[in-house]
Amino acid sequence: MNEWNAEAAEWYAAKYGEYATNRLAADATEVAPDAVVVDVGCGTGSALRRIAPRVPDGTLFGFDPIPRMLEIAKQRASEDPNGHRIGFRLAPAERLPLEDASADLVFAFDTIDHWRDKTAGLREIRRVLRPEGRLVVVKDGGLPFGAEAKREFLEDLDRTGLKVMRESGLAEDDVTCTMWVCRVA
Ligand SMILES: C[S@@+](CC[C@H](N)C(=O)[O-])C[C@H]1O[C@@H](n2cnc3c(N)ncnc32)[C@H](O)[C@@H]1O
Repeated sequence: MNEWNAEAAEWYAAKYGEYATNRLAADATEVAPDAVVVDVGCGTGSALRRIAPRVPDGTLFGFDPIPRMLEIAKQRASEDPNGHRIGFRLAPAERLPLEDASADLVFAFDTIDHWRDKTAGLREIRRVLRPEGRLVVVKDGGLPFGAEAKREFLEDLDRTGLKVMRESGLAEDDVTCTMWVCRVA
């Protein structure tokens, strides 16, 4: 996707709005019941809707910079029993509306490659993560992940003070993705 706008948001939501990677990665992520969970580039909010029942005492934020995408996310949340607990805000990864060291778990699912400035976005995530917090990154495509793309990703992380703790491949039918659990270095 070269340009994220209202038309792209409608297309994405219709075709991939409940894409299996969101469900697979949310289910594979450990989370405390009172965690502060943030989904950066949340799209339709499907990962947050999926994890919400496991975070009954926590706080859930979904950020995306495309107004139409957030409208769709709010609409889908309104039809979900836990949806009212998700706070959606218009925000790019590069400028997250959160205090320093305030998040336990940050999701970045199939979004980093769409950011205008990956380094700035990852720095923001590092800023908002608590010292023991985790960033979970998902990219479409299973293991082994392309060597060049993986090298670039690891360099981006390293530059911003984050490191990979665990890498896993997830799959369902013909959908595959790779998930990296990262921490502050
Ligand atoms: C491929 S979609 C993935 C959406 C969702 N995370 C998922 O996995 O279904 C990419 C998302 O990144 C968002 N995006 C684009 N530029 C962004 C930026 N600078 N910061 C954060 N998100 C951005 C898009 O609006 C879109 O919702």
